[in-house]
Amino acid sequence: MAEFRAAPANASAGQKLVTWIDNRFPLTKLYNEHMAEYYAPKNFNFWYVFGSLAMLVLVIQILTGIFLVMHYKPDAALAFASVEYIMRDVPWGWLIRYMHSTGASAFFIVVYLHMFRGLLYGSYRKPRELVWLFGCGIFLCLMAEAFMGYLLPWGQMSYWGAQVIVNLFSAVPFVGNDLSLLIRGDYVVGDATLNRFFSFHVIAVPLVLLGLVAAHIIALHEVGSNNPDGVEIKAKKDAKGIPLDGIPFQPYYTVHDIYAVCVFLFVFSFVLFFMPEGGGYFLESNNFIEANPLKTPPHIAPVWYFTPFYSMLRATTDPMVNILCGIVGLSGVMALLRGGFSATGKMVVAVAAIFAVLLLKTFDAKFWGVVVMGGAVITLFFLPWLDRSLAKSIRYRPGWHKAVYGIFVAFFLVLGYLGSQPPSVAGNVISQIGTIVYFGFFLLMPWWSRMGTFKPVPDRVTYTAH
Ligand code: HEM
Repeated sequence: MAEFRAAPANASAGQKLVTWIDNRFPLTKLYNEHMAEYYAPKNFNFWYVFGSLAMLVLVIQILTGIFLVMHYKPDAALAFASVEYIMRDVPWGWLIRYMHSTGASAFFIVVYLHMFRGLLYGSYRKPRELVWLFGCGIFLCLMAEAFMGYLLPWGQMSYWGAQVIVNLFSAVPFVGNDLSLLIRGDYVVGDATLNRFFSFHVIAVPLVLLGLVAAHIIALHEVGSNNPDGVEIKAKKDAKGIPLDGIPFQPYYTVHDIYAVCVFLFVFSFVLFFMPEGGGYFLESNNFIEANPLKTPPHIAPVWYFTPFYSMLRATTDPMVNILCGIVGLSGVMALLRGGFSATGKMVVAVAAIFAVLLLKTFDAKFWGVVVMGGAVITLFFLPWLDRSLAKSIRYRPGWHKAVYGIFVAFFLVLGYLGSQPPSVAGNVISQIGTIVYFGFFLLMPWWSRMGTFKPVPDRVTYTAH
């Protein structure tokens, strides 16, 4: 047991209390490690506020969720009416509900920007691989959380959205039907589905999410933050072991983040009070109609944050599977022509390519659509090992890398837009190109990220006072 420390004789009541706690719990130690003596690079910019904002939105979602659960009824016969009751009769219920529904979209906006920052500055690279992996785990949980939460109001879109997505699991070979039955708890989406989604949404997934966020921060603080120059500040320290380019998180970045919180709350409140439906993107008009298992809405689309992935699912048609076969075949031939393989190596490449093509043709396009949609998220986990660029930050990469990033983002946004629209021939072709661009960006990264003329990376971060 550690020695008990006594507070100085002239200590204030507050100091005495802190000493009392410190003798039993490492309060000051934790505060110093994660705030006052956590040295963050002095050149953080705008992109570095989204981590704190994500934490703020997480807290908003948990607090508003607690109050919603006090009045919500997880019962197929009562759920829709209970949400109406919250909106109309519960004092301030409308505000709590709109905070929660707007909060879901805000969460994804903030997290997408947060992830994009990681991409810009190579924040997923050594030594931050685990920070990124925990982040990807968080992203998966967030998607599950949002999907299951969306069923709870038991509106038309809740019902049919869940029906469509859960049905996708039945495309899995051999176990698909049993799997979707297990998820639904019934042959159609019904009361059993609502109950299990409620249970996962309010307790199971949030617990995992909180654990992952804690792991994310612990891993980050173990290795230290990256920065817009992608320079490791720990490489240059003063005599006391403090990074020369580091400044204490508290007060410098607490102030920085509080400023961002104020701007965020201003925008968030504007949406809450003036456009809570977000033009049909945050809350769809069909969801103000109670679920009716006998009446399919003419156009079923997921909420905007899922639409890029939904577009990829819809883009995977039979002709697209043929194109994929072509790409696999061509890659196999190119690998063989480039050489570097022994006779056995050549054999392995040829057999692997033929096997992949046969596999692609064995199962139907619906199944591959599910694989493509899931694969789009799973690919993110491999990013730390796909990027082999000579500089972490985009600032020191060849100019055309920026254009590649630009094309990737543009297609991601177009995929998002198309996923929210009814299917069309032109839209389908563009989605197919977008899907190829998305996967091409990541899977060809080991090659293209090394190409071009890199600018010299400085030893110390670049910083101009503002
Ligand atoms: C609930 C969601 C999340 C929360 C609360 C959260 C929180 C944070 C915080 C507070 C930071 C430090 C401040 C900053 O750099 O902005 C951070 C850094 C980071 N996060 Fe997240 N994060 C979340 C989701 C994600 C996701 C989904 C990813 C990626 C898949 C991710 C990847 C990263 C990376 C790579 C860093 C280090 C950035 C750097 O040092 O340049 N995070 N996160």
